[in-house]
Amino acid sequence: MQASELMTKLHGIDIYAGFDATQYPDDIQGWNSEHPLLQEAIRVIRPGLVIEVGVWKGASTIFMAEQLRTAGLESAVLAIDTFLGSITHLMRPESRTALAPHHGWPQLYFLFVANVLRRKLQDYVVPLAQTADTAFQLLRQMDLRPQLVHIDAAHDHESVARDLSNYYSLLAPGGALVGDDFTTSWPEVVWAATEFAHRNHLTLQQHSGKFLLQKPNA
Ligand SMILES: C[S@@+](CC[C@H](N)C(=O)[O-])C[C@H]1O[C@@H](n2cnc3c(N)ncnc32)[C@H](O)[C@@H]1O
Repeated sequence: MQASELMTKLHGIDIYAGFDATQYPDDIQGWNSEHPLLQEAIRVIRPGLVIEVGVWKGASTIFMAEQLRTAGLESAVLAIDTFLGSITHLMRPESRTALAPHHGWPQLYFLFVANVLRRKLQDYVVPLAQTADTAFQLLRQMDLRPQLVHIDAAHDHESVARDLSNYYSLLAPGGALVGDDFTTSWPEVVWAATEFAHRNHLTLQQHSGKFLLQKPNA
């Protein structure tokens, strides 16, 4: 799906129109964002639609969009985030500052949009400033079916379990779900991912800090 089509479906307008990226610093911090598994998944699956849940300033979104562009695909990354940070960000003064609060309201969304525009990736990325839960309900009602999903939002067991269940259900047959932080530092992610794979009779593959679940062909 082309980003322009997705943009019209979700926003009805071009959210990039008139945005001045020079007003924002080139600030693209991320964690494990340029992971070979994301690159390989795009190379093999050649997805028409990628959904990322948890995007922060856009490092992994931008990495995947660059892979789509390099592969010559007319596809889109739908970037879902509240742009308000996770509990772990809010607990630490330095990451609260990274949210760039303006009178208390984080400017993360605008940093993200500026980062996408600066890299000329607006034809590949559509942001959706929404909770993972509400975005899921919207996408299900619109019957949007990604071939690749990257889950990297809240890291507590309950949230990860819900994100996996919701976004795996949207995934097209033959598609793949990649999750971040399958490490001992994030035991609740490991717990939720292992439990989800077990309950759904799926093989969980580990790739240096990320996990992969493949949806069987129908
Ligand atoms: C670890 S960061 C994502 C990093 C990004 N994938 C990267 O590699 O650059 C987690 C993000 O999840 C978002 N988040 C946390 N809980 C969320 C929720 N319930 N719905 C949507 N986004 C959420 C936070 O705002 C934060 O930006």
